[in-house]
Amino acid sequence: MAINGQVYKPGRASPTMMGTVEGLSDEGLGILREGNRTILVPHTAPGDVVEVRRWRRKKKKLIATDFKLIEPSPIRVEPECPYFGRCGGCLLQHLPYEEQLRFKASKLSKYLGLNVNVIPSPKIYGHRNRIDIVISTTGIGFRRYGTWWEAVDIAECPVFGGTSGKVLKALREFIEDEGLSLYDMRKNRGFLRYVVIREGKFTGELMVNLVTKEGTLPESFPDYFPFATSLYWSVNRSDSDVSYGDVERFWGSPFIRERLEDVVYLIHPNSFFQTNSHQAVNLLREVEKLVEGERVLDLYSGVGTFGVYLAKRGFAVEGVEINPFAVEMANKNAELNGVSAQFRVGSDRDVGDLSKYDTVIVDPPRAGLHPKLIRKILKDEPERLIYVSCNPKTLSENLYKLKEKYRVEHAVGLDMFPHTPHVEAVVGLSRFDV
Ligand SMILES: C[S@@+](CC[C@H](N)C(=O)[O-])C[C@H]1O[C@@H](n2cnc3c(N)ncnc32)[C@H](O)[C@@H]1O
Repeated sequence: MAINGQVYKPGRASPTMMGTVEGLSDEGLGILREGNRTILVPHTAPGDVVEVRRWRRKKKKLIATDFKLIEPSPIRVEPECPYFGRCGGCLLQHLPYEEQLRFKASKLSKYLGLNVNVIPSPKIYGHRNRIDIVISTTGIGFRRYGTWWEAVDIAECPVFGGTSGKVLKALREFIEDEGLSLYDMRKNRGFLRYVVIREGKFTGELMVNLVTKEGTLPESFPDYFPFATSLYWSVNRSDSDVSYGDVERFWGSPFIRERLEDVVYLIHPNSFFQTNSHQAVNLLREVEKLVEGERVLDLYSGVGTFGVYLAKRGFAVEGVEINPFAVEMANKNAELNGVSAQFRVGSDRDVGDLSKYDTVIVDPPRAGLHPKLIRKILKDEPERLIYVSCNPKTLSENLYKLKEKYRVEHAVGLDMFPHTPHVEAVVGLSRFDV
């Protein structure tokens, strides 16, 4: 049983507070109450008895930064990952999976005012097809929970799977043999910054993207990764802490492929792809079930995940997306799969006539739909809307406005991100008069 002690030091030292965690907040933190004070305690489970010694204020909430588990809750399970409780990647591995699903279903139901089921992820370890590993003077791994300046050194990430261990071992050998400098996150100094590992879970293809500051990469780099399908060196010239950069060189294939049912998608270091391939298949099926008519608009289309899949099933698909590189990838994906879906660069603020589509799919970023788009939908009144959302809060705010002309006919959750508090939702809406 992993029992957390101190998470990290900063925060106000205060008289200790002790009690029983009564539930989880939307962010997946244990809720501890005493009088009218509420403290949120990371990595705890309902039923845990905890003693909190320090906390800090974040966005009007009190978050425990130093606490002791006095008596573990009987519902706890053994996390599969030895770094759980320190690593900032996962928050809920100590909860039984059914409990994680119940938490997500109740969060979604609360925001939507409906009873919503959550479809479990087909795999809860080895499911992630992408991890962004920090290469820092404090460690090679993920950021320590609650910090930006420190990384927890890891040998492998069980949420990604065994290949991560192989890549990290080769990376450490390369660093040691060549005497390369790691990044100091506090001082913004050093050469190596990130390694991003991506894997086609249904194709077995592997991409390794090493992100550095400007400098010289030893020629021996590819010798350490003969097992990678695609090996990249990218340069982030800025101080901004991002895990991508300008492509400097690549070895092997420029892309890796992922297959979702009968559709093949190309993945490039600088393009987004749904991070849980097994569950992405369920996401596509849920969306397909809700499509009506023939003409479909895939808005916020990214690399064409929905559009290409639906075009393969005979729908006439157009896609709109603001990122030109994603549009290029979407059109490549359409071509690769022999479908005639058309993707173009465009903004949600200027989407043209929506009344010509039978179904409009929207999959916006966390901020939700732009108010101009909501007004446009209400004006053009396409018969059917499918709203795919990764943020229940903005989803519920947007649905409230759309309810002026639309009724929710179907809503389901999907667990794309096991062990995290996040939940995806697919909502089907029809115009009132249809
Ligand atoms: C949640 S992702 C959806 C990706 C896609 N549906 C998929 O599954 O691969 C949101 C997408 O919206 C795009 N986006 C962000 N702001 C936008 C805007 N103002 N207009 C159009 N697209 C936008 C992003 O570039 C991103 O590709």
